[in-house]
Amino acid sequence: MAAERLAHRVLMVERDEAVGTVWHTILHDHGGGEWLAQRIVSFIMEHDSVAEFLGAPAASVRDQAFQTIVKNRVNRGGIMAPGAGLVKAGENGKGLSSRWYPETLQKRILDIVQMRDRLAFVQGDGLVVFAPHAPDPHAVSFIDPPYTVAGKRAGSRLHKYS
Ligand SMILES: C[S@@+](CC[C@H](N)C(=O)[O-])C[C@H]1O[C@@H](n2cnc3c(N)ncnc32)[C@H](O)[C@@H]1O
Repeated sequence: MAAERLAHRVLMVERDEAVGTVWHTILHDHGGGEWLAQRIVSFIMEHDSVAEFLGAPAASVRDQAFQTIVKNRVNRGGIMAPGAGLVKAGENGKGLSSRWYPETLQKRILDIVQMRDRLAFVQGDGLVVFAPHAPDPHAVSFIDPPYTVAGKRAGSRLHKYS
């Protein structure tokens, strides 16, 4: 919506605090998106360094954002819920690097930075944030919830807030 300029303003709402640090850094921390993109392309992905890095407390919101990106890429199946283990063999036996595409992430983040005047982010409950806009005929909501109903209930396993 923002990229195609189909809306004047796009407000994204996410409940997960860790995921929130990523959007906050990209959209509301001046220079944060550039910092995050640079941090991603300069990171050396090795098993010992990743385990140590993910185990250490983050010193800042930016660091927390970077840890969240790494976790999402190296946790088995991209699981963001607490307690997920690291990828073992990964796709094509490439292990930890199997889902780590630093240049792609860098490009996406920098593209989002370019459109950040049309984007805003709130960490919280989307239903609560949207409620006051519900009567507005010009407001549209797109909801991409954890998919908890069908089959294996992937949404319950993947997310902290399912
Ligand atoms: C299928 S994922 C969608 C992620 C997002 N569309 C994206 O592309 O990154 C579902 C997300 O909904 C979030 N979530 C769950 N309940 C929520 C709520 N009440 N308000 C906002 N986000 C919520 C979860 O934390 C999870 O990240």
